[in-house]
Formats: sequence, structure tokens, C-alpha cells
Amino acid sequence: MRTTGIKHFRKKDFPTDKVRRFLEPGPIVLISSAHKAERNIMTLGWHMMMEFDRVGCFIWDQNHSFELIRRSRQCVINVPTYDLIDAVIGIGNQHGPRPDKFDEFGLTPAKATKVTAPLIAECFANFECKLIDTSLIKRHSVFVFEVVKAHVATSPKYPQTVHYRGDGVFMISGRNVSYRERFKRVNL
Ligand SMILES: Cc1cc2nc3c(=O)[nH]c(=O)nc-3n(C[C@H](O)[C@H](O)[C@H](O)COP(=O)(O)O)c2cc1C
Repeated sequence: MRTTGIKHFRKKDFPTDKVRRFLEPGPIVLISSAHKAERNIMTLGWHMMMEFDRVGCFIWDQNHSFELIRRSRQCVINVPTYDLIDAVIGIGNQHGPRPDKFDEFGLTPAKATKVTAPLIAECFANFECKLIDTSLIKRHSVFVFEVVKAHVATSPKYPQTVHYRGDGVFMISGRNVSYRERFKRVNL
């Protein structure tokens, strides 16, 4: 199918360190972790799917969560919706472990089944993860996880997730359009 009649954009040079404003994947997630007697939550936008049940996450080594996750080799990736925006920002503004971010932001820790890190009950989806590849941590701060158990709300089908554009701006997920019938099955 040819794309004719689509507008050509006028462009200018753009700083390479700001391309994230266009590429950031979202949705923003809250990563919960636990190790020994400690638990924590951090906000994270830099993640990517690597195969169907693997997720790569950039976790800055100055974050308290970094060591909790590296040592426990697990975490939970929680997907919040727009109604949790204050917690998303507040959790990202604060370094753990104290005050406890579950208490501070009124979030409920729920028991996971395959990891010791708690799920965040208020989030639409919770993915229990095990760290399966540590080879990129030292060089790139990238943790490669396998999702070992997923809990997803039964409705709505398309939750109002938030996607970070940088510079304090979020995009809230909106309209969904299906082109399913045009897809090669393997790409669905
Ligand atoms: C919208 C948003 C996105 C963020 N994305 C990331 C990220 O992808 N990786 C990261 O290491 N920190 C990210 N942060 C920063 C951490 O959430 C922040 O440093 C937090 O205080 C870490 O908590 P901790 O030190 O208790 O682990 C983000 C913060 C916000 C507000």
C-alpha cells in the first residue's frame, strides 16, 4: 500500500540527548522490590520488550532500588493508570528506603506468588519478574527480566496509562484503532 498525499514535515536539527521526547516507550511503570527486611518502589519509563515475556529496564545505579533488585534478582513491574499520577511523580522524586513509599503514597502491598517483592494493589497490572541476565548491568544499567507471573485487571480492556515525554509532560493513552484484518498473523 503506497502512502501518497501524506504531508512532508519541515525539520530542524534537534539535540540528540533529547530524542527521548519522541521515542520513550511508556507506559510509565512502578517497580516494586524487596530484599531482606526492606521494600521499595521507583518510577520507571525506560523499558523495552525483548521477546514476548522478557523486559529490559534501565535502572540508574544511584537509585536505592538498584541494589535491592540486583541482590534479590527479582522485582514486580506494576502498570499504573492516570489516577495514580501523583504517586508516579512523588515516587520518582523520592529516594528510598525511608519514608516507606507504600505508606507515604497510600499504596497497598499485595502478596506476589513467585517473587517476594510486593505487588501494588492499586495498579491495573502487575508482572512478577525474575532477573535472567546481569551482563548489561555494569556497562549500561540495564536489567533483563523474565515475566514469570502476570496479574491484569479484567476491565477496562484499554486502561488510561501514562507515557512520559520528558520535561514534565505526560501523554495519556487515548483512542484505540484496530487494523487487525490487515496484519500478518505473526505480527499480531
Ligand atoms: C516519569 C519518571 C520516569 C523515570 N524513569 C526512570 C527510569 O527509567 N530509570 C531510572 O533509573 N529512574 C527513573 N526515574 C527516576 C526514579 O524513579 C527516581 O530516581 C526514584 O527516586 C528512585 O527511587 P529509589 O532511589 O527509592 O529507588 C523516573 C522518574 C520519573 C518521575
